Amino acid sequence: MINLETTFAGLHLKNPLIAGSSGLTNSVKKIKELEDAGIGAIVLKSLFEEQIEKHSEKLSQLTDYPEAADYINAYIEMNHIEKYLDLIRSAKEACNVPIIASINCYKSSRWIDFAKTIQDAGADALELNVFVLNAGEFGDTYLEDSYVNIVRELKKVVRIPIVIKMAKNISNLPGLVGKLKSLGAKGAVLFNRFYQLDIDIKNMEITSGPVFSNPSDFSDTLRWTAIVTGRVPDFDVACSYGVHSWEDAIKGILAGAGGIQLCSTLYEHGPGVIEDMLTLMEEWMRQNNYKRIEEFRGKLNYRNIKNPSLYERVQFMKYFSNYR
Ligand SMILES: Cc1cc2nc3c(=O)[nH]c(=O)nc-3n(C[C@H](O)[C@H](O)[C@H](O)COP(=O)(O)O)c2cc1C
Repeated sequence: MINLETTFAGLHLKNPLIAGSSGLTNSVKKIKELEDAGIGAIVLKSLFEEQIEKHSEKLSQLTDYPEAADYINAYIEMNHIEKYLDLIRSAKEACNVPIIASINCYKSSRWIDFAKTIQDAGADALELNVFVLNAGEFGDTYLEDSYVNIVRELKKVVRIPIVIKMAKNISNLPGLVGKLKSLGAKGAVLFNRFYQLDIDIKNMEITSGPVFSNPSDFSDTLRWTAIVTGRVPDFDVACSYGVHSWEDAIKGILAGAGGIQLCSTLYEHGPGVIEDMLTLMEEWMRQNNYKRIEEFRGKLNYRNIKNPSLYERVQFMKYFSNYR
């Protein structure tokens, strides 16, 4: 009997597949569909501080009285947050799988206000969608410091597991993850995929780039999952960014992941892909004589292979002779 149970960030999952935060996880109906299709856990659509502020700014322009504007802002903000808390409560009521809330904020004090209410609404864990782009106006370690400060402050008020969704552009990823672990974070998601842009050369303007990831994006995710789980033992990592097949899920687990987040593939193929992936993962385990995920989780990570430098190879030297 094959058992796909695993753990991620202190949560018990019936299988490692997790629906990543997106428009597919913003209503109870969609969440329930994902659960019925067999998903192991769900990360809700992020609550964006920026969205709330933009919305309230627009509406408060309708009045000339500063006190009224403050009142409107507070009202709108509460309303937005209340809706999100309702989503958590209803999702918890409707589903048995762990429900992970997600917040995106950019002022550290606001993260804390949101986090406390989210915990009280019953979320099983909290994923932090931290996004600070340093286009040169901040110091060298601004992004890294933001992660550290946010986790440090949140840990003072939050008991539920804190998961950090990491950006790719961090100079010493294992070092930062190790630090977040020591501050009390319970898991990291590698990686967040941010809004992609493009340039329209006909109209000479900046446009939106591809919304979904490609299978080729997974190589980087795999490399860093293997390195981080090898370098930061006893800390849970979930793969995200580029998981498009059951084979990717198996590779992610071999590299050390406890959770496998899916987003683009769910958009492209619908919830039915979950059952297909689980069936084929089980089949692979059967063929390779594994009964439990723990028997092969991390088997090929940075710590457990004979030649870990394979994960550090970044130059194409091997191909110089074949490709001219
Ligand atoms: C339409 C769309 C909406 C998304 N919304 C969020 C969001 O609200 N919060 C978040 O943390 N990530 C969001 N993401 C990022 C995904 O959760 C995921 O990290 C990213 O798509 C990479 O995974 P994938 O390769 O499986 O698509 C969104 C992605 C897409 C395509």
